[in-house]
Amino acid sequence: MTGYILALDQGTTSSRAMIFDDTGAVVARAQQEIPLSYPRDGWVELAGADILSSTFDCARQALSQMPDGTRPQALGITNQRETTLIWDRATGEPVYPAIVWQDRRTAEQCREMVAAGQEAGVMEKTGLLLDPYFSATKISWILDHVPGARARAARGELAFGTVDSFLLWHLTGGEVHATDVTNAARTLLFNIHDLAWDEALLDLFRVPAEVLPEVQACDHHFGAVKAELFGFTLPITAMAGDQQAALVGQNCLTAGDVKCTYGTGGFLMMNVGSEPVMSQNRLLTTVAYQVKGQTAYALEGSFFSAGSSIQWLRDGLGVIAHAAETEDLARSIDSCKGVYLVPAFTGLGAPHWNPDARGSLFGLTRDSGRAEIARAALESIGYQTADLIDAMQQDAGLEVGHLKVDGGMVANQWLLQFIADIITVDVHRPRITETTSVGIAILAGIGSGMVNAIRDLSIFCEYDLHITPNRHDIEKNIKKNGWKKALKSTCYYST
Ligand code: G3P
Repeated sequence: MTGYILALDQGTTSSRAMIFDDTGAVVARAQQEIPLSYPRDGWVELAGADILSSTFDCARQALSQMPDGTRPQALGITNQRETTLIWDRATGEPVYPAIVWQDRRTAEQCREMVAAGQEAGVMEKTGLLLDPYFSATKISWILDHVPGARARAARGELAFGTVDSFLLWHLTGGEVHATDVTNAARTLLFNIHDLAWDEALLDLFRVPAEVLPEVQACDHHFGAVKAELFGFTLPITAMAGDQQAALVGQNCLTAGDVKCTYGTGGFLMMNVGSEPVMSQNRLLTTVAYQVKGQTAYALEGSFFSAGSSIQWLRDGLGVIAHAAETEDLARSIDSCKGVYLVPAFTGLGAPHWNPDARGSLFGLTRDSGRAEIARAALESIGYQTADLIDAMQQDAGLEVGHLKVDGGMVANQWLLQFIADIITVDVHRPRITETTSVGIAILAGIGSGMVNAIRDLSIFCEYDLHITPNRHDIEKNIKKNGWKKALKSTCYYST
């Protein structure tokens, strides 16, 4: 009998549901955009109700596409990480909108903690830096700014969760308050060596233990979906943050394997094996997965603007109507003629970690038009990838042999060629580019016992596009120098 797995992927700008059969074939898919709101400079929020309704609608749409008389046997949840929700345990209602990972409102608090010399200790335990990106300062902000929230939290009336926890709570009708190690590892409250919440960190960030979810392995049996949601009950057999799920979906299961997901931002992750590697280059150390009792760690570098730069071209500048137009625009000119875009719309991520930086456009002349700006936006994605690969190679002491890419932007082959040229490494694109969903389906397959080991499902990870670098080194170096100058000026201007 064919087995089916429902994969739910709740991302920053959209929710997605995909159903896979046990040969790795996609039998159904649905996707829905959700609106972000930007109430002030540097603030980014999502409505909790939109997170739930878009995810459940997608699940229902995907289920309706299944062959007659069939239904999935397992469900896996993967999600945008760090995004923080606090809800009322009695009603499930969030007390404040979700504060999205990109939100910079707690930058000042983080700066003060760094100035007070608290970063090294936090980094040693969590593998993370003191940056507003992570959940801890967002939790405190909500508890301090929603009237009565801190007292209610102390009385055990409120629950905190990243998006995985929030979905799990609502899928199980409020019966389960849990998260998995990969999501917990992004909060700044979780000790990645002991794999447990850390009391000293809870004190430091003033987060009461009463709000925390239980932490489980990725392949844990988390609970069952309430029958009233989809018309039948379904075991939830995996949870993992989206970048970690993509690492599994890209078959990056051996130390040294690297993937980059180009979604809203760019997320580069290298599997470093069963022991954490601490970065000397301001990259993050994080839990890659915990499956069948085994823990793997990863080095991660993220930049905040990839797809969001293209959205800005479309929605902010109005120079394109559809993201796909950027490929033709980039091909229509030989070079950007010295135009560089530094897309620090919500600050700069690794390895710079500058929450105050804001986007800049350099080198404009009277000849610069939409093609130059669109191409500069795409090129910025290649430069940011190159900066992270350089840092990662130094930290891990490993040469990156090839880069596996996925996410919405990898449909753009001009971009993939530019990335290969600028990092001088082969780029491989899988047949199914929704590797986040693939990864969580694999984990749910293991959690449900449908498969025995991750490698049994490597059939999911076939590659149909291989790009080799073809640009001359001198040209690459000149371009990288121009990028470095633009980046330096952006950071100088913002401090
Ligand atoms: O760390 C944030 C990341 O998990 C968000 O991913 O897919 O929503 O761009 P995505």
